[in-house]
Amino acid sequence: MQTIYLKDYKKPSYRLSDLELNFDIYDDYVIVDSLAHYTQEVAEDLILYGVDLELESLKVNDTNYTDYSLDKDQLILKNLPKEFVLEIQTKIYPEKNHTGEGLYRSGDIYCTQCEAEGFRRITYFMDRPDVMTKYKTIIRADKKRFPILLSNGNMVESKDLENGRHSAIWEDPFNKPSYLFALVAGDLAVVCDSYKTKSGRDVKLEIFVDHGNENKVPHAMESLKNSMKWDEDRFRLEYDLDIYMIVAVDSFNMGAMENKGLNIFNSAYVLADQKSATDTDFQGIEGVIGHEYFHNWTGNRVTCRDWFQLTLKEGLTVFRDQEFSSDMGDRSVKRIEDVRGLKSHQFVEDQGPLTHPIKPKSFVEINNFYTATIYEKGAEVIRMIHTLLGEEKFQKGMDLYFQRHDGQAVTTEDFVAAMSDASQKDLEHFKVWYDQNGTPRVKVSEMYEDNELTLVFEQIVQTNNEKYDCLHFPFYFSLYTKSGERLEEVKFEFDQVVKTLSFKNLTSKPVLSLNENFCAPVIVEYNQSLDDKIVLMKFCQDDFNRYNATQELLKNELSRLEELAKSDLKLEVNDNVIEAYKALLLDEKIKDAFKAFALSFPTLVELNNEAASFDFNARKEALAFLKVEIATKLEDVLIQMNESLGVDKEFKLNPASMGKRSLRLLIWFLLAKLDKSLHFDELVKLYKSANNMTEQLGYLNIILSAEIPNKEELNQDFFNQWKHETLVVQKWLMTQALREDITLEKMKELECLKEYNPKVPNLLRSLIGRFGMFNTSAFHAADGSGYQYFGDKIIEIDSFNPQIAARLAKTLNFSEKLDNDRRDQLIKVLKDIQSHSNLSNDLKEVIEKNLA
Ligand code: TRP
Ligand code: ZN
Repeated sequence: MQTIYLKDYKKPSYRLSDLELNFDIYDDYVIVDSLAHYTQEVAEDLILYGVDLELESLKVNDTNYTDYSLDKDQLILKNLPKEFVLEIQTKIYPEKNHTGEGLYRSGDIYCTQCEAEGFRRITYFMDRPDVMTKYKTIIRADKKRFPILLSNGNMVESKDLENGRHSAIWEDPFNKPSYLFALVAGDLAVVCDSYKTKSGRDVKLEIFVDHGNENKVPHAMESLKNSMKWDEDRFRLEYDLDIYMIVAVDSFNMGAMENKGLNIFNSAYVLADQKSATDTDFQGIEGVIGHEYFHNWTGNRVTCRDWFQLTLKEGLTVFRDQEFSSDMGDRSVKRIEDVRGLKSHQFVEDQGPLTHPIKPKSFVEINNFYTATIYEKGAEVIRMIHTLLGEEKFQKGMDLYFQRHDGQAVTTEDFVAAMSDASQKDLEHFKVWYDQNGTPRVKVSEMYEDNELTLVFEQIVQTNNEKYDCLHFPFYFSLYTKSGERLEEVKFEFDQVVKTLSFKNLTSKPVLSLNENFCAPVIVEYNQSLDDKIVLMKFCQDDFNRYNATQELLKNELSRLEELAKSDLKLEVNDNVIEAYKALLLDEKIKDAFKAFALSFPTLVELNNEAASFDFNARKEALAFLKVEIATKLEDVLIQMNESLGVDKEFKLNPASMGKRSLRLLIWFLLAKLDKSLHFDELVKLYKSANNMTEQLGYLNIILSAEIPNKEELNQDFFNQWKHETLVVQKWLMTQALREDITLEKMKELECLKEYNPKVPNLLRSLIGRFGMFNTSAFHAADGSGYQYFGDKIIEIDSFNPQIAARLAKTLNFSEKLDNDRRDQLIKVLKDIQSHSNLSNDLKEVIEKNLA
């Protein structure tokens, strides 16, 4: 394992122009011919990378070249002239490639994935993002089996050849790094549309899917057009080619890929209709379509100098897709969802052994750094710049960034400099965020005396910066009276370790609403009374904090109940908690979607992650008890709420209808806790009459967690109804993997289903991934059998898809928080994996860090 350091960055020693790639696709192999004109910048050997390639021929200026050395992943050419044409022929085997990188087969189609370093599985190349050139791609293949031949840019020629073969030539007029190269060959259906840009150019839009799935494309197409319009309106950015293509494939390691002009998508982020996709799926599609589209400017036109700069494109593009979804739907609900995601993934990552800054200083395998930190925390860092500058100056900064860097491969410093120069805001101190790992804490203490409130804010963060001993961030807060009047809104910029602020002439001690809209990604340590939380639940004008106060109230009550359970005392829920819950439920001024989020119960996984140690007994008991108590005390209210929500005559996808569905599911989730056959009968009726996947799957999940006699039958019915649609099978597998009553035998049975295939990452993630991430019974079995099973799977998977194996292994990061027995079991499993021969670098790096 070789560690690569940011500090070792060196400019490429060779440049190349006009790369021509020839692909001759045959039944069980592909011949790749690459032709490029190189120029030497530094007199050094030319080092080209290649993985799993067979070198067929190598020519310099049209003559065979022998002055080279070749090892497992490098081809080193020596004594080259200053300028030359290099022609390399390689043979590759897409049929045998299950890594999800390079050229591989998904179903019956061939497709590529080159980010981060997949291009080297196609031909020997420098394969680094600061080596950019113009691509011409020529594809030849059997016309029957591969009627569609696609690559980046514009198709400039297509013709029939001998022996039933045909060819297509594609030219991309923009310089691009190799990670943005793409090729697709197969028999696909296409859905076409068009978009007229702000300046009046017509862009062809084409979405390619498996035959028969055309009717599941409209939402993706609509999302694409909305993205194009939104980027023009909010960022003044127009699309730059005459065609934009998206191809949906079933086997894909990630969500989607922004290849220039030819996005390749995990089919889960393209295909949707009312019957088979949930509201969450629809929203995910809008977000990911937007994300990949927005990369065209923040990623493709301006790209990364090296992979340490990954957050330059990812953090910024996530920020942009979050803003897009907020503008399209409900801004405050979107913020709640994003922060929930951040806390449940990024905070956990940052507090565990795999913690790293958004700009890492070193890595072994870059694939391991497509993390919640780079993406989600990266987006929070951009959001803080946006908060500090305001929309107008932020947009000025974006303008300057493109003015300066269009067509270049740049660094995060370049981005911050553009923001700072355009706004005249000093961001030197702020930049520490890029190099600093860990979640900062802000401790708030207060003193109230003689109508004066003194607040002391303290940053708890160990910076590894020589110049600054803390971070710079916006920490906005408000003061409220007990009766809910907002007294003062403070836009506080925190850039010292300790800061004291006073507020005079108050008539009573105010209620604090801290870190409004979660404007800084920090943990606030502040002891707030139950009464004050209730004030915020009722009156806080900042939606995020109103939500947060409600969740804090539930969590506080849960930890009180947990203590009682630990001491074997009788559990009893505080009446004020129930009253506050009821008041929010009944508040007619609040949107349903917001209510559903605010009033949903934290999961055991979430509670465990936020606690100092995992607990599967008292904590579980407390959680179950609180749900039953609230359901019991509020049964009438819940029934009444359910009635007032009514039945939807027509299925709609707008925020109001989606909100209704999620609130109704929460109501039934609670009613199901009452063990009443009356409610059970109604639930089954609702399940059977559902006309959309949100409710069909939502009710199934509730049914399976209740004591409903014929639930196994219903579960099987669901499977039988949907077994021909792999995207629904994936959802069903997730449901099974999360069941509290699942056994390892059952898991193994599910693995044997003919609808299951471990070579398809989505299926693997649904069953094995979910089990390891969220199952709190069989996975965490005290005898370690769950960890053992999961560990065995990881080893199996590593032999064909290291990226996914490493991803699964990352979740085994909690040994520090376990009781002794479980910890020993988990460590044993980690060591077993580590001792295996032939582990991938991906997996080795993760296991070593988790063991450290
Ligand atoms: N750049 C892609 C995105 O964020 C991420 C991605 C897609 C990726 N496929 C990948 C990263 C494979 C690493 C490996 O939109
Ligand atoms: Zn991205």
